[in-house]
Amino acid sequence: MHIFIGSTPNTTQKDIELAKGILNGKVLTDDARENLEKYFQNIWTKEDIFLFNRGREAMYFLFQNLNLQEGDEVVLQPFTCLATLQPILWSGCRPVFVDIKEDTLNMDLEKLKKSISLKTRVVLIQHTFGNMVNMQEVRNIIDDINNNRQAEQKIFILEDCAHLFSTDNESIGKFSDAFFFSFAQDKAISCTQGALLVVKNRDFFKKVLKEEYQNIKELPMKEALYNARYILLWEKIKRLYYTLDIPFLRFSLGKFLILLYRFLGLIKKQTEGRGEDIRKLSNIQFVF
Ligand SMILES: Cc1ncc(COP(=O)(O)O)c(C=O)c1O
Repeated sequence: MHIFIGSTPNTTQKDIELAKGILNGKVLTDDARENLEKYFQNIWTKEDIFLFNRGREAMYFLFQNLNLQEGDEVVLQPFTCLATLQPILWSGCRPVFVDIKEDTLNMDLEKLKKSISLKTRVVLIQHTFGNMVNMQEVRNIIDDINNNRQAEQKIFILEDCAHLFSTDNESIGKFSDAFFFSFAQDKAISCTQGALLVVKNRDFFKKVLKEEYQNIKELPMKEALYNARYILLWEKIKRLYYTLDIPFLRFSLGKFLILLYRFLGLIKKQTEGRGEDIRKLSNIQFVF
């Protein structure tokens, strides 16, 4: 058996039927996002929950509402994904890197404090490949600093849970101001593209996030249908990936299909695609 890690690896037969139904218009999903919002709201009853097209859009939504200024600093680890840097740069902020620890591939918290300056507004903490960071320690470090700062200079802790999924309030979100999951093509729960943001600390936001969220448009149908098509195309690729395999030529029927689908514009690399616009998850992206 082969495991494919970057191409909706957990697709089941039910997902395939659903994707087909969405593409041929037989599955009606008009209130899918609302149902999903209610589902997650039931889990995180006291927090604000938001669904976006991508994790980086969730981050950008937060950054816009934190009123970050040009030159403000966001502290993160350098062993990360392009996706975490994009919203920092879109916001005109400066990424400040803190080295990782070899055993966990997570930020070295002993070095975190030294990287904080008066311009630091956000600390982004990533649980790399599901290895959990000690968030209580992060909270203690940041609280020590925040206690001596004016409200507008306080540092926001954003927990990057893109590499895992859990609804356990004790392990996720207990010590951060907000956290997000990604439902991208290579994540624990995947719908090709998608993300959930949970915001706990409302004190930071002068504007009401819920109101801002209302104004965001959902991903247009054409782009959302890409997600359903992606699942079906990758099922074909996976089936043929080792057929006619000639390793030294790096050829197989599946690899040829990848090139063909890319050439036809039917599948994209994760780094390609739209830039900084923020879109809500559409009604056909995540149906369950
Ligand atoms: C560590 C990390 N954070 C955030 C993201 C954001 O994910 P996306 O914008 O693709 O949903 C990713 C995606 O690969 C990631 O690996």
